[in-house]
Amino acid sequence: MRMYDIIRHKRDGMVLTPQEINHFVAGYSDGTIPDYQAAALAMAIFLRGMTSRETANLTMEMSISGDTVDLSSISGIKVDKHSTGGVGDKTTLAVVPLVASLGVPVPKMSGRGLGHTGGTLDKLESIPGLSVQIESERFLEIARTVGCAVVGQTANLVPADKKLYALRDVTATIDCIPLIASSIMSKKMAAGADAILLDVKCGSGAFMKTRERAIELAVSMVGIGEHVGRRTVALITDMDQPLGRAVGNSLEVMEACDVLKGTAPEDIAETCVELAANMLVLAERGDLSECRALVRGQIANGRGFAKLCEMVEAQGGDPLALADYARFKQASAVHEVRAKGSGYVVGIDAEAVGMASATLGAGREKIEDDIDPSAGIMLAVKKGDFVEPGDLIATLYTSSEKTIPDAEEQLREAYTLGAEKPDPTPHFIARVSADGVEDLG
Ligand code: URA
Repeated sequence: MRMYDIIRHKRDGMVLTPQEINHFVAGYSDGTIPDYQAAALAMAIFLRGMTSRETANLTMEMSISGDTVDLSSISGIKVDKHSTGGVGDKTTLAVVPLVASLGVPVPKMSGRGLGHTGGTLDKLESIPGLSVQIESERFLEIARTVGCAVVGQTANLVPADKKLYALRDVTATIDCIPLIASSIMSKKMAAGADAILLDVKCGSGAFMKTRERAIELAVSMVGIGEHVGRRTVALITDMDQPLGRAVGNSLEVMEACDVLKGTAPEDIAETCVELAANMLVLAERGDLSECRALVRGQIANGRGFAKLCEMVEAQGGDPLALADYARFKQASAVHEVRAKGSGYVVGIDAEAVGMASATLGAGREKIEDDIDPSAGIMLAVKKGDFVEPGDLIATLYTSSEKTIPDAEEQLREAYTLGAEKPDPTPHFIARVSADGVEDLG
């Protein structure tokens, strides 16, 4: 078999055979297929697409290109959750312990933030003492004894994706649904869970800018999951404004703790309830309304919060910080941004808020950059609120005072004021499962 013919087949719109896909992934991983041929194939896939069977085959081949996690020593249906990346998305920090507190194991591997989106690992590391670099035996032990653990991916998890993603990044082939779907799902497969809840973000702060594209990606990923025997559900959620009020690592941990304590704003609390309930449905704990009630119960009785404290302690962190936020590293500069005009907040560009937070030190441009765990933004007003001159819009936190003017400007540009109160936008737009697409918004 020749790579040349595989490229030609895809260029001409043919369906690649499982053998051709295996030849490509194996050869590209071991270096016998050069970057220029892999780049040509990626572009052919970008232009010609892939069937759901081809996408599933590509995913499975990539998922076994390196280490795979064996979760068989943990009993029960193990459920994973993945978000395609948003601004202010701290849901994992609340949802994982909520689900685990009901006896459903959630052993989870997460990523770091890059650009305008935050990463769960960076958020967790803002908790004093906590480590996400935990070797695999200890990870499994925490998952068995506590019921949940959130750690960094092992270095050799899906090396084929690492190589292909880096190549796509420089060959204008990132924005391609079969390649995105196989990239995400191959890592989920390798991480070993039985069932997967996907949170596909849609809007200005997300990869997928429109509802149609978000649904297309969700359908592709759910198809892969079902194809390979992992129950998968995707929720399409709004990212046209940041999620909740906190953006930035330790600020987001605190807001997630507020969700678990029952003191968070309703929008973020309800979002977490819905995500957790969908994970419980995947774990066969009941229908959606039964599972929502279970989750609300764990917030009211404090068991979700207790589970987060247990997980944090097992990962070396200070659980007292979750009750007493003064134990987090504090920002040395705090700056209030006040409205200059009046009107309803009709839009908050999530990407611009994410960039403002990164400017303050909460994010990174390159994966090796350091971040400031205390940096970030607390939004005082959200879409639909009315402001008058002098009203507080947001509070900026940083340990680098010189970043404040630029961050303030970025934040002001993120807000659009208008004369008319905007219609409320539903956070949940659609639910995609093996049964099809259900409109929620
Ligand atoms: N996230 C991934 O892991 N892969 C992609 O291709 C895009 C987003």
